Amino acid sequence: MTIDLKSFIRDISDFPKPGIVYRDIAPLLLDPQAFKAATEAMAAPFDGETVDIVAAAEARGFIFAAPLALHLNAGFVPIRKPGKLPFDTHSHSYDLEYGSDELHVHIDGVLPGQRVIIVDDLLATGGTMQACCKLLERCEAEILGCSFLIHLSDLKGESKLQPYRVESAVIY
Ligand code: PRP
Ligand code: ADE
Repeated sequence: MTIDLKSFIRDISDFPKPGIVYRDIAPLLLDPQAFKAATEAMAAPFDGETVDIVAAAEARGFIFAAPLALHLNAGFVPIRKPGKLPFDTHSHSYDLEYGSDELHVHIDGVLPGQRVIIVDDLLATGGTMQACCKLLERCEAEILGCSFLIHLSDLKGESKLQPYRVESAVIY
């Protein structure tokens, strides 16, 4: 049976700011079959490829990256907000759909030439994933592509991610 992933995503208007329609994945995470189907759909484009590392930014990226890493027999590398990683880091600042932020990765999180996919729950403006790509470029990773559960296509975030491959399970 095919699961309609969109039916597990709840729209919340005007959160966290007026004018934003927040795509809430909490109902999907509550349903084990929908959560598993979402993870499998995000991994499917990369099935059969050699993937060394699945990387993701906190917090929602972590939720999908850990099961994807296990599914693809890869390690997991956390990309974190300032002040969270204990060792030396590369850092990058970026704009969000509603604000700005900075991300860090350990300088030895990914080794030069390692094959990496980067995962997140949602692609909006692309700022978060672009920051992740820049951090992994600093590590000299080979970026195989980016995998999202949700792509908000109106915001044209994929233009920030060129030339990387962008895969998404659900498109609005
Ligand atoms: C959300 C989401 C993505 C990002 C997408 O994270 O999980 O990481 O926004 O937006 P963008 O494409 O415009 O960068 P958020 O920064 O809200 O943090 P959270 O995961 O801690 O909720
Ligand atoms: N992150 C950035 N934009 C978002 C949105 N519209 N819904 C949920 N998470 C988001």
